Amino acid sequence: MSQTIKPGEVAQRAQPTEETRNRVLLAPMQQEDLDRVMAVEQTAYSHPWTLGNFRDSLNPLFHAQCLWLDGELLGYFLAMRGVEEMHLLNITVAPAHQGQGWGHMMLDALSLLSRHEGAQWLWLEVRQSNQRALKVYECYGFKQVSIRKDYYPAGRLQREHAVVMSLKL
Ligand SMILES: CC(C)(COP(=O)(O)OP(=O)(O)OC[C@H]1O[C@@H](n2cnc3c(N)ncnc32)[C@H](O)[C@@H]1OP(=O)(O)O)[C@@H](O)C(=O)NCCC(=O)NCCS
Repeated sequence: MSQTIKPGEVAQRAQPTEETRNRVLLAPMQQEDLDRVMAVEQTAYSHPWTLGNFRDSLNPLFHAQCLWLDGELLGYFLAMRGVEEMHLLNITVAPAHQGQGWGHMMLDALSLLSRHEGAQWLWLEVRQSNQRALKVYECYGFKQVSIRKDYYPAGRLQREHAVVMSLKL
């Protein structure tokens, strides 16, 4: 029976075997993937991106990649190219697969793609309340740089600060 996971919760699952990791594929996000991407997005966030946000990101200014296992969407990331830097805008692992190393794998992929294009820095913003993601980024080597006040919507008429983080590649 599959677990029901709410946003912010972590699946208590066995770590994938090396054989499973070897079957995983990273592929550029396509228009036809967007229904599956939206299904994951809506289960992973209290304030998900819209379909329009994803559609607008499918152009050469962005890296948009999906992580697949045997046809199942494990996760995805979207990053915007800058001058000698890359700005991570969205990284998401499907709730049932969180805590199994896939986020780390996608950060590795993004770092390699970014370095290949000559980027020196990775940048991102994360909600101050998203302690889990903050911890993942810190474990990966990102450093907190500043706070962007009232950056995110947070329920009725409320806003939440963003923590700005960077990683030297
Ligand atoms: C944040 C997110 C992308 C991380 O992906 P993930 O696959 O769950 O993370 P991983 O399993 O790769 O873990 C990465 C690191 O965090 C650690 N970690 C895993 N689960 C953890 C937990 N419950 N608490 C603290 N650290 C944890 C791992 O040990 C790993 O550290 P390591 O690389 O030193 O071994 C994913 O949890 C997610 O999609 N969350 C919901 C959406 C979200 O918040 N996205 C980010 C928005 S800014």
